[in-house]
Parts: sequence; C-alpha cells; structure tokens
Amino acid sequence: MTHPTIDQHDAWQALAAHAREMRTTHLSELFRGAPGRHAAFTRRAAGLTLDLSKQRWRDETLDRLLDLAREAEVPEAIRALLAGERVNRSEDRPALHTALRLPPEASLVVEGEDLVPSVHATLERMATMVERFHAGQWRGATGRAIRDVVNLGVGGSDLGPLMVTHALADYQPEGVHTIDVHFASTMDGSQLADYLARLNPETTLFVLSSKSFTTIDTLSNARTARDWLMARLMGENREEGVDAELVMRQHFIGVSASPEKMNEWGIAEEHQLEFWEWVGGRYSLWGGIGLPIALVVGMAHFRELLAGAHAMDRHFSGAPLSDNLPVLLALAGIWNVNFLDIRAHSILPYDGRLEFFAAYLEQLEMESNGKSVTHDGREVGYSTCPVLWGQLGPNAQHAFYQLLHQGTQAVECDFIAPKVRYDDVEEPGTRDHLMGQHRLTLANCFAQSRVLMLGDEAIEDDGPRPVHKRYRGNQPSSTLLLDRLTPATLGALIALYEHKVFVQATIWDINPFDQWGVELGKKIAGETQRILEHQADIAGMDASTRGLIEAVWAAERG
Ligand code: F6P
Repeated sequence: MTHPTIDQHDAWQALAAHAREMRTTHLSELFRGAPGRHAAFTRRAAGLTLDLSKQRWRDETLDRLLDLAREAEVPEAIRALLAGERVNRSEDRPALHTALRLPPEASLVVEGEDLVPSVHATLERMATMVERFHAGQWRGATGRAIRDVVNLGVGGSDLGPLMVTHALADYQPEGVHTIDVHFASTMDGSQLADYLARLNPETTLFVLSSKSFTTIDTLSNARTARDWLMARLMGENREEGVDAELVMRQHFIGVSASPEKMNEWGIAEEHQLEFWEWVGGRYSLWGGIGLPIALVVGMAHFRELLAGAHAMDRHFSGAPLSDNLPVLLALAGIWNVNFLDIRAHSILPYDGRLEFFAAYLEQLEMESNGKSVTHDGREVGYSTCPVLWGQLGPNAQHAFYQLLHQGTQAVECDFIAPKVRYDDVEEPGTRDHLMGQHRLTLANCFAQSRVLMLGDEAIEDDGPRPVHKRYRGNQPSSTLLLDRLTPATLGALIALYEHKVFVQATIWDINPFDQWGVELGKKIAGETQRILEHQADIAGMDASTRGLIEAVWAAERG
C-alpha cells in the first residue's frame, strides 16, 4: 500500500483551509496594533538574525506549518541526514556535506567507517598546498613562483568558491605571497581566453575542479589551458629542461571524486585532492573544491568558514522546530508556494561582497528542488521549488524592483545584510563616510521591505494619488541580518540555506541530492555537436534545429 502524499495529510488540508482566510488578509493588517510582531517572528542562531515577521502569516499559521513539518517527519529526516543514512535514494548514497565541517575531535561512523579522519586528512593536504603557495614555493616549470590560479569548473565546482572568495576578499592573510584567483566556467572559452591573453604561463596554475571529471565544459577549458601552457612554455623559446611532464606537474591541480580520471588526464598524484561521492557538487565548497577559497583567505579563515557552518548544523540538529532557522525559513517558503500561490522568489543581498550569492542559491535551490517526482516515483500533485533569482538589492532597485512594487506577480523576497561594516577602516574620515554608506544601504534595505509589505500605507501624507503612483504592497519577505560578514557567519548563512532546501524537499517528498533533469540535455548536445561537425546525419533532426544548424553551416561557408 502506498503512503498518503503530503497534500493528503490533515495538516496540509488544515493549512489549505486556513490559507483561504489568509489570502484576503493584507500584511499591513497583520502589523496594525501588533507592536510585538517583530519579536514574535524573529529568531537568532550562529551570528544570524532571521526576521520572518513580514511573512503573510500569523501564530496560527506557523503552528499549522509546524504540524505539517512533524507529519512530514522533518525531525526524523534531519537525524537521518546528519547520521549519514542513504537519503539520496535515487543514487543510493548519503549526502554528507555536514561531515566536511565536523571538528577534528568529532566522530561520525557511517556504515562502519569513521569519516572524520579522512575529511581532516584532505584538509591537511589542502593546508600543505596552501602553505606552499603562500610561501612562494609553488613554482612553475621554469622555476618562477606561481602567482595566478585559475579555477576551471562549472556549477557546484565554480559557484561556491566564486561566491565565497568574492565575499571574503577582505580576509586575505597578511605577510604571505599573494595569489590572485580567477574563475573560468563557460564552455565557449570566452572567460578563459580573456585570462590567457593577460596571464603569464610561467606563473599561472590551473585547478581542474570537477566532481565527475567528465564535464565537457570544464574539460574543454582544461584542454585549452594545457595547450596554451605547452605551446608557451615548450615552444620555440622554451627553457632548458622544461618538459611536458614538468608542466603538467607544476601547473595543474585536480579536485575530483574520481582519482582514476585525474590520473588519466595526467594530474600528478601528489597534486590531486580527492573527495567523496557522498558530497553533492552544489554542496561541495567545504572540502577540496574550496581550495580557491583557502588560497584567497588562508586556511585559518577557511576553517572559520567550516566552524560557522558547523554551528548552523548543530543548531539545525538541536533546536526545536519552532526556533529552528532552516526549518522556519523552509516553512515560510512552503506557505508561500503551496498555500498563497507565490512561486517566484528573489534573493536580494545589500552588501556588494555578496554579489554572487543569488547565483549560488539559484543552483543550490533549483537544481536541488526543481523536481516533480516523489521518492517512491509518483508525480507530485503540488508545486515544488519556486523560480528563484536575484541580484545585489541596491542595484536591483534600479532594475527589476518596479515589478516587485507594481507588477502583477506575487514574489517572496529574502533581504540579506550585515548589521555593521567598515568600523575597522583605519582612516577616520574614510571610515565615517563608508559607515555612512553602509547605513544608507541598510536604510534602503529596510525601506524596500517595508514598502513591499505596506504598500501605500508606508507613506504618511496619504493624499489622493493617481492609480499609476499607487503601491499595493502585501509582498512577503524575510530579512536576514548577519552580525557582520565574517567567514563564520558566511558559513552559517550558506548552511542555513542548504538545510532550508533539505527541509522543503522532505515536506515535498522529493530528492534534493540528485539532478537527473540535466542529463538528457547533455546527451542531446553530444548528438547535436556530431551533426554540427558533419560526423552524423541531420536527416532525423526536427525542422527548427535543422534550420539553425544549416544557418551556421551557411555562415561558416561565408
Ligand atoms: O550539470 C549539472 C552538474 O552535474 C552539477 O550538479 C555540478 O555541480 C556541475 O554539473 C559540475 O559537475 P562536475 O563537478 O562533475 O564537473
């Protein structure tokens, strides 16, 4: 007998009935005469303050959502995730990114093996590599110290390190040989070509980051990089004694779950960082894939990032559901998507250092929960992951906020900002100006969420205005304040969203750890490429693709 789907549960039905009443309640009504609403819906953990008071809910809503979480067995699922059970059922393996941030004295025995020693052995290997770079002792084939590192990876092997290195650029260790870290992900080679035009091959090293080591985007970039190095270091002006093996050894590091494939590609064994199949690509920045982060911020700060994530893991595992930040953030999303029909979600950081945070979350959330089949293979009869996008909030104010304020779509927003910034700037005049700029940014952040909530009621002199100047308000939002942006609070922030995704997946009864939906596109791209290269017959192609291919051929013929 199949178990009832989540939308057949009592708690879901009760929420659906409750939503009929709440749909007609404006957020401004929920705030009117409710001075304690901020405190009632705000929770703190691991240096983060989460204000959920601007969600379109009341106490009763949250109680019912917590019932839903219990009926969906969220507490049992959290325990299973953290204990290393095979929660990734379609691939029959655990999802143990949390193990990557366990402290060395911890122990996590999964299927008879304590994972902590091997996790820390990898961290130690990373530390040794980082130390060599920072001491100026990692030398290229011609003997010069490496000073530029280009990460070649895509998706989870790019977005996490890219986002974090940008966010923590202020945390570079002092007194070390500086390494400039760059990222090239696009398969068309345009980002890479740009670096190759300006970097010196003698002092440039490439990190090939790919869990599978089969991703064509990364491997094409890697081949281009290898040819560039070989041509430039072993070409006509080659130095005595520089051979291909030396170039491969000194200019490439591999990070992958497949040592065999790294060997085949020619990565020297001592320059490989291995990770495990039980770490999902989009959850992998905490180990070897985080090497570019450690190169920028140093190993001590990298360990602080891990410690911050671990603090959030402990909170997730120990806090009651009603105080549990990831659970509450997830429930707000479930309420919006499944009961208020709000299926667009915008991520709006108010701090330039978080420029890539929305792009990172787009993969984390949509690749994880963009699913429509339950664990036991049934089509879901309810919505799952909303469309999620974002940009730096202050810039988005001058781009797509118009739609948030006066468009026809209901959108949930996450506002994210540190409470304090720039107080450590040494020059007092500059410090005061910059702190003022930060307060200006916070004022905009708070003002925008307020106007989105209240609409016209946010305006004091509420005289008659033409309809095109009116604001409906009633757009729900969450505000996340970081005490300040540090490696630890950033670690906690990322872990918060990872766990939010897991809680939502648990309620929707879908697997957040696989991504079968991207496979067909890869296969068809391979076939299409063979046709484009005249190695396969175009006859079976649909009319549109055929027309496009023929247009390319015609252009190539001139
Ligand atoms: O195509 C999707 C995907 O598999 C992501 O899940 C992953 O993060 C990315 O490609 C890169 O994969 P890999 O690290 O194996 O190169």
